[in-house]
Amino acid sequence: MTYEERLQHVSVLGAAGKMGSGILLLTAVEMADLSLKPVNKGKTFVLNAIDVSDEALSGVMRYLKAQILKIAEKKVIGLRAIYADRRDLVDNDEIIAQYIFDVMNVVRPTTRLEAAYDSNMIFEAIKEDSALKVKIFSQISQNNPKQPWFFTNTSSIPITVLDEGAGLGGRIIGFHFYNPPAIQKLVEVIRSKHTLDEVNEFALAYAKALRKVVVPANDIAGFIGNGHFMRDILYAVEEVHKLLNDMSVTEAIYAVNKISQDYLVRPMGIFQLIDYVGVDVCSFIMFVMNPFTKDEEIHSPLLDKLLGMGVKGGQYSDGSQKDGILKYEKGKIVAVYDPLNQAYVPVSQFQSKVDEKLGTMPAAPAWKTVVGNKAKDDLLKPYFARLTTASSLGAGIARDYVKKSKEIGKHLVSSGVAFNDADVNTVLLTGFFHAYGPINEYLD
Ligand SMILES: NC(=O)c1ccc[n+]([C@@H]2O[C@H](COP(=O)([O-])OP(=O)(O)OC[C@H]3O[C@@H](n4cnc5c(N)ncnc54)[C@H](O)[C@@H]3O)[C@@H](O)[C@H]2O)c1
Repeated sequence: MTYEERLQHVSVLGAAGKMGSGILLLTAVEMADLSLKPVNKGKTFVLNAIDVSDEALSGVMRYLKAQILKIAEKKVIGLRAIYADRRDLVDNDEIIAQYIFDVMNVVRPTTRLEAAYDSNMIFEAIKEDSALKVKIFSQISQNNPKQPWFFTNTSSIPITVLDEGAGLGGRIIGFHFYNPPAIQKLVEVIRSKHTLDEVNEFALAYAKALRKVVVPANDIAGFIGNGHFMRDILYAVEEVHKLLNDMSVTEAIYAVNKISQDYLVRPMGIFQLIDYVGVDVCSFIMFVMNPFTKDEEIHSPLLDKLLGMGVKGGQYSDGSQKDGILKYEKGKIVAVYDPLNQAYVPVSQFQSKVDEKLGTMPAAPAWKTVVGNKAKDDLLKPYFARLTTASSLGAGIARDYVKKSKEIGKHLVSSGVAFNDADVNTVLLTGFFHAYGPINEYLD
């Protein structure tokens, strides 16, 4: 089966979810673009959008339409060439409307899993539940005579567990998009012990068509991205506990969040990132990873405790941030959750006191000025030199944090999760928008 033949009949499972909706959009556009090639004239391309609720699927169809409009507007010149033989399409608006129609025409929303019984390939983005994924994969595999390929978006479950559990004989690969899939450039590709070469080759071709940056990772729970992120969280929590001799828990969370953003020149602090991803998601990823990480406890009682108190984070449907460990107003952090009193404490009550305790911060470049800057070393090297000699409490914590992040990165390579240092750095640079990779020489 060629690349195009394989993409003629596809299903996305969990199509109304955060990840599934983005995967659906990318795949619908890729399939529609293939269908519009002259060689494919007359061929039908079908993309089943499968989820459990009709209502959620209606929402996703509205989302698709709005996104395709934006995509069409951006590539209207290319679309003119594609529709060159359509004399009825004159204005840009007409071309854009036709393209929206052609992409939407590929997509079939349905709550029936049976729709996947005809698909050549299945993208899976249902919830992170190993037993549920195995059950659905085996059900499809047993009822689909086409021996479909499975592209799972799991964040942490080893692909071999899914492969062997569902008896797929290597017709599966981890194709780990980052959130949101339509924007994030990174995809981690993970082969199970048995993944067939042709499945891997297709994965690489598909990623290339989507203009994604591919980083291969070994099949070890959490892979590279969450392998670093979860350990980074555990370290941040450890630092919070250390500070408790000297300050309250809300103050310590504020301090570590500030250091991990401003001192480390990262796009957001670690607790803000946990809120962004979701306290529940992070806690659950740890829960899934933990049984697979020997000699290491990947588990945070603090996160579990917060979650038990209903502190969740995540986003509203318009993309704005929900309150979590931190409270937000117009995207700004205004308070920190206090698990002792189960209430938010305004940052204004303690900010200057904590900043004073952390001491003078060495002048740091803003993340925005460094990220993607070809001459970033000219900014980062002098900054880290200042950080090295600074004697304040904050600088000391920041230095230890930078070293820990490097240690985590190095451990991912030595334990065989990542193939090399560069892959670890690419994941953090691309998937987490860090301004520099964790494996660096800045503090050596
Ligand atoms: N959210 C992230 O940042 C992120 C990033 C990378 C990977 N992932 C992984 O992607 C997967 C989905 O995560 P998400 O955040 O999009 O979750 P989500 O809860 O937003 O979406 C899951 C979707 O699956 C649907 N679903 C549940 N059971 C189903 C079933 N039996 N059949 C069909 N649909 C079903 C739900 O209705 C929901 O729409 C998980 O494996 C997660 O670990 C998530």
